[in-house]
Amino acid sequence: MLIGVFAQQSPTLDERVQKFLSSHRDEWHDLNVPYADGKVLFDLIVEHKYTTALEIGTSTGHSTIWLAWAMSKTGGKVTTLEVDEKRHVQALKNIEEAGLSDFVEAHLRNAHDYVKEAKGPFDFVFSDADKNWYKQYFIDLAPKLKAGGCYTAHNVTDGNVDKDYVRYVESRNDFTSTIESHQPCRNYDQL
Ligand SMILES: C[S@@+](CC[C@H](N)C(=O)[O-])C[C@H]1O[C@@H](n2cnc3c(N)ncnc32)[C@H](O)[C@@H]1O
Repeated sequence: MLIGVFAQQSPTLDERVQKFLSSHRDEWHDLNVPYADGKVLFDLIVEHKYTTALEIGTSTGHSTIWLAWAMSKTGGKVTTLEVDEKRHVQALKNIEEAGLSDFVEAHLRNAHDYVKEAKGPFDFVFSDADKNWYKQYFIDLAPKLKAGGCYTAHNVTDGNVDKDYVRYVESRNDFTSTIESHQPCRNYDQL
């Protein structure tokens, strides 16, 4: 009798991340970004080859996974901040399951303090935590943003966002700003 044993090819990182995103697509209930917004973040980073990202507001890690996946393409790393321990721990598990731990530095920290202490520089920021602090985060981080870098903030047209934020960034003539709105992604698996 002859028994053939075949080595299985291990999945590539892309396959692992895609599998993770697909299998968890209905499980993001902690104020996480929708899929379509995650893809916008991913595309922005890959297109501009950003390598030093900061995320404010990890929650359970949906956007972090998109940012980290983009970092796997550019050879960079994302630092992400979360103040809620349960969400931080769940995010670590999710990031690990997606195979992206090497591209993430996750801190259980109040971002108010972190942004003041951080040296930077960053070339990409995603602000998605306490909306009434958006303007202050921007004021603290703008000097730490590299020339050509990109500062993004989620849900800026929400009633909850500090109204001053949009007015303030638009008044800064050392930045160009746009407000993007995206339709939900219909074909979930198509990247
Ligand atoms: C909108 S959720 C983030 C969603 C996440 N970006 C995603 O798409 O998966 C905002 C998160 O920011 C956290 N947060 C609020 N204030 C914070 C602060 N001062 N420092 C760090 N995290 C904070 C909240 O606990 C919450 O989990």
